Amino acid sequence: VIHLMNNGSNSMNVVLIGVGRIGLLHLNNLLDPARGLNLKLVAVVDQSLEAINAAKVIANNYSSILPEFSKDWSKFCKHPEVDAAIICTQSFTHYEIARSFLKAGKHVFCEKPLAEKLDEIVELGQLAAEKNLVCQPGFNRRFDEQFKTVKRLMDQENDSKIFTVIINSRDPEPPPLNYPRSAGGLYVDSAIHDFDLIRFLVGKDIDLVSSLGSCLVDEAAKGARDLDVAATILRFSSGTIGIINNCRFSSSGYDQRLEVHLADKTISVANIKENAVSISARDGLHCSKNIWFFEERYMASYVNELKSFANAMATGKSEVDAYDAYCSLLLASVAIKSNEKESTILVGDFVKDLANAAKWKAPI
Ligand SMILES: NC(=O)c1ccc[n+]([C@@H]2O[C@H](COP(=O)([O-])OP(=O)(O)OC[C@H]3O[C@@H](n4cnc5c(N)ncnc54)[C@H](O)[C@@H]3O)[C@@H](O)[C@H]2O)c1
Repeated sequence: VIHLMNNGSNSMNVVLIGVGRIGLLHLNNLLDPARGLNLKLVAVVDQSLEAINAAKVIANNYSSILPEFSKDWSKFCKHPEVDAAIICTQSFTHYEIARSFLKAGKHVFCEKPLAEKLDEIVELGQLAAEKNLVCQPGFNRRFDEQFKTVKRLMDQENDSKIFTVIINSRDPEPPPLNYPRSAGGLYVDSAIHDFDLIRFLVGKDIDLVSSLGSCLVDEAAKGARDLDVAATILRFSSGTIGIINNCRFSSSGYDQRLEVHLADKTISVANIKENAVSISARDGLHCSKNIWFFEERYMASYVNELKSFANAMATGKSEVDAYDAYCSLLLASVAIKSNEKESTILVGDFVKDLANAAKWKAPI
């Protein structure tokens, strides 16, 4: 039996799959009426009893009418009362779960990366297009008010006046030890947000990528031949140069700064602090720390992306889709190759080689 959480008549029924770090965050947003999401949570799935128990504690805080809890996502694919899945399991499971829901005619919101292989994303995108379904990857930074403001300002500029876009994207600490590490993980798991953000801001194709990485902090990453520091340079077809700095560690806390250098101005986004108080004294200037991590820094964007998902299901118009998931994973893959080969890579050549080898048609 499925219990409905809200009484809204035109909202979509969703099942939330995976309630670890990011899943619990989405759970809170789905259940808190103050967030204003027009989505009804009908079921919560996780294979871990511990995760289910944590989700039950949160759900109990909001209402005595609970969603269904289950260990098995597959039983909701064909469920007549489920319209969409919100997938927050570990990345290596995304493709199978997203594919099953799309095949069964359900909309999908899936945390990044939408899948770990480019041909898998192409398949998911085709499935969604054939069946007229929404397939939205969790690129929440597009929905951050700071970056949206920068985007609005950039849209007023002539392309030739946008010289450089610099993103500094550093985590306060590496992910938990049980978080899967893999070769290239830094690019596919973390930098992928920045590839999407820079594409969103500049709005042009990227033709050239050069990246170098190292592993200097995270022992777990070293064991998996992953990196924890990387610097990537991208050239857009318009001539704009993008520079992305990534690190899994930052002693100053979550470091999420952006700078756009234009012909007649420079636009900057600073880090958000725990508070805005500063103290100036004989020993110097003191101010508070950066807010800790993604849960705090991007809180509003996670609500906004699900509002956009609900809107996409209602209107058929997605703000971010499988094609964006494809482009960002493509850039991550080219950056991995550039670092391995210690050379600059033409994106067009990379796509040609890949499509020839795997015999599939690339969307770009
Ligand atoms: N957008 C963002 O800012 C952001 C932030 C963190 C994580 N993520 C993404 O979210 C995903 C999850 O990351 P996390 O840090 O929350 O991981 P996590 O390990 O904390 O949580 C994953 C949960 O999924 C459950 N799970 C895994 N396989 C399952 C299956 N087959 N059936 C049912 N439950 C299953 C696990 O038991 C666990 O509770 C990753 O893909 C990651 O890339 C995105």
